[in-house]
Amino acid sequence: MPMETPHGEIPERFVKDMRPQEMHDFLAQRYGRRSVLKGAAILGVAAVASPVLWRQSAALAATMPIGPRWISFGADPAAQMYLSWSAGTATGKSTAPPRPQVRLGLDATYGSVQGASAAQVPVPATVSGEPAENTFYNNVLLSGLAPGTTYHYGVSNDGVTWSADAAFTTAAAGLSNFRFTAFGDEAASATSAAPMVKLVTSLSPAFHLIAGDLAYATTVGVKIPDVTGFHPAQWDNYLGVIGPNGAQSIPWQASAGAHEVEPLTDDGYAGFITRFPQPYDLTSGSPVVHAFTYGNVAFIHLDGNDLSAQETINTGYTGGAQTAWLGNALASYRSPGSGIDFIVVVCNCCCYSSNTNHGSDGGLRDAWGPLFDEYQVDLVISGHVHAYERTNPMRGGQPTRQAATGGTVNPATDGTTYICAGGGGNDLYRTWYGTTGGGDAGSSTAPKVWRWSGGDTPEGGSGKPVDYTDTAEGYSAFRHAVFSCLAVDVSAPSAPGGQTSMLVRAMMPSQTSSAVTSIASPATMDSVTLVRASQALTAAGPRVLSS
Ligand SMILES: [Fe+2]
Repeated sequence: MPMETPHGEIPERFVKDMRPQEMHDFLAQRYGRRSVLKGAAILGVAAVASPVLWRQSAALAATMPIGPRWISFGADPAAQMYLSWSAGTATGKSTAPPRPQVRLGLDATYGSVQGASAAQVPVPATVSGEPAENTFYNNVLLSGLAPGTTYHYGVSNDGVTWSADAAFTTAAAGLSNFRFTAFGDEAASATSAAPMVKLVTSLSPAFHLIAGDLAYATTVGVKIPDVTGFHPAQWDNYLGVIGPNGAQSIPWQASAGAHEVEPLTDDGYAGFITRFPQPYDLTSGSPVVHAFTYGNVAFIHLDGNDLSAQETINTGYTGGAQTAWLGNALASYRSPGSGIDFIVVVCNCCCYSSNTNHGSDGGLRDAWGPLFDEYQVDLVISGHVHAYERTNPMRGGQPTRQAATGGTVNPATDGTTYICAGGGGNDLYRTWYGTTGGGDAGSSTAPKVWRWSGGDTPEGGSGKPVDYTDTAEGYSAFRHAVFSCLAVDVSAPSAPGGQTSMLVRAMMPSQTSSAVTSIASPATMDSVTLVRASQALTAAGPRVLSS
């Protein structure tokens, strides 16, 4: 039986001298002597490997180029990675890829091949003229990877034509120093989207967090039968921005925002979850909520659409399940021996924002704020408001103290820091309540917060216009309506009970009021250091969260 090679079942000694057409011919002959099912089983893909279909695949290869690639962590970032890519570039005539597969190894000679799955995002028939509705998205979950290891990979739609090489690195085992980056609100059509992704890459994070609002395929969240403003081709534009500029090597860990609610066949998330396979936890009652841990930090991606008093497209759809799940997750991370020191929450809408556009969302604040207090959540990262704002440490809905730029916060005693990092590329919101500097506009109106009426919870309530004067005062520590990227450096404890820290910096590239002009030397616009006495390290070694 021929050996499996990175090039399908072509002996390695032949590959270096073969052109793609010769590979086609070789494989066509080989599959002509084999059962279709056997050939399919070896690669773990659908049974499509007949000689006739191989000739079809050769034709498809010319019209179905390998699209952009992007990656995301699986449930265990030290051992699992999702690889995804588009099978085509939205030509409008895309056909299911005959043999989607990836090759993987410690260098660009690879050494193993495995099959991938392909899925097509459903689009209602009333949406027409959008070539992306026929795009197929492929993905595979790589498991059993070694921790702290760089892998090279390539992808293919047919096992013959392969992408260029790319590489990623798994999470280190146990505790380590690492950097992650974060922002929200990118927008495929924004001229600053690509520079902001390149800024992420230049910061060399272990992974990047997206606080919702990725492609903006919908101008506002909409559901069938309303398809107003739905342009799914924006997803392919977006993936073309993030993939080659960063996400093909940097895990892109995404939360859903209101713009991810699309007129599809479910609660609106089919497009998001098909394109972004992540370790979603359906026990949350949501298809987009998930969490993962990296070193001594837990990251929880929530769905604010469930609770937002402003964006009501998915009001109350988990029936309280998400908030119950959050309480259990936080209790687990804060339990003795969990191995977790810091807890970071990522969602789209802001619990606290003094921007006049969108502003504070009392729906999230009221439901989750008490849990963030009880379990000492260290950092909440959001977007939605297209600007940057950091709060002073908050507890019980009020700041506990001032935390100037460059300061240090002890979350265990001071409370939770909320950061809006919505300057990820889309047009900025430049007006704030009160007096401002830095070229931003101010408003003499008192800060407002969105609240529910008709009930204390999303179930049975309804969002009212921003007409409630906010009772929280003095929460804003730093704000500026600019494009910016959070860069967070986590320092692991060096001894049991030693200090662990997160240096949180807002990196601001050179820019005009409407566009990024250079990412070469980003300035540190704002910073704060969060510190804790570590519980994650014992004399016997790092604790590991038991699940
Ligand atoms: Fe947004």
